[in-house]
Amino acid sequence: MKIWIIYDSKFGSNKRVAAFMQELLSPNHEVQVAYAKDVNQKAVLATDPDALLFGGPRRMGNISFALRSWVKRYAKALQKEHKRMKKIAVWETRSEMKPEVANAESKMERNIYEKNLKTGELWVKLIEKVPVEQLPQELLSLNIINETSLGNGQLEPEYEAKVRAFIQRFEA
Ligand SMILES: Cc1cc2nc3c(=O)[nH]c(=O)nc-3n(C[C@H](O)[C@H](O)[C@H](O)COP(=O)(O)O)c2cc1C
Repeated sequence: MKIWIIYDSKFGSNKRVAAFMQELLSPNHEVQVAYAKDVNQKAVLATDPDALLFGGPRRMGNISFALRSWVKRYAKALQKEHKRMKKIAVWETRSEMKPEVANAESKMERNIYEKNLKTGELWVKLIEKVPVEQLPQELLSLNIINETSLGNGQLEPEYEAKVRAFIQRFEA
């Protein structure tokens, strides 16, 4: 298959996940990886890809804006050209929010906490916009641990095993 991997990343975790996915898929597929802000939807579409993998960070309880808008635009471009993907798959990285945030004084914090619980639904809503032949598989969610207030941290130690299993299901 001809596969594009599109990611958003500020601190490098999602970039690393995207690169690892490329490494796993490259022996059997033609794979290209791009940072969402660096690649135009039409340029991707012009290569006639079979499959797309999208991923990025959770931000303020939502899917990162750059990735969300990239996917929406891509879905529109596909519809305009009456094309559909054979397969899509998605992943996100997130840092667990402490349960006490649910009772925080700040309404904004509480709202983010509530939205955080719904990220799976947010992804489904986004994916449903993309015309695709095969139903997308489940969302792969990876945790960032030792997160600092700046937002950087390390990927959970089991992340490679999770990505391997995800890619195996994607290829099946
Ligand atoms: C501004 C900002 C908002 C964030 N909001 C959330 C959030 O709502 N829920 C969550 O689980 N993680 C949140 N995070 C943590 C990020 O998801 C985490 O830092 C990110 O996955 C790292 O990805 P990257 O290294 O590719 O940038 C936030 C991080 C930043 C910087």
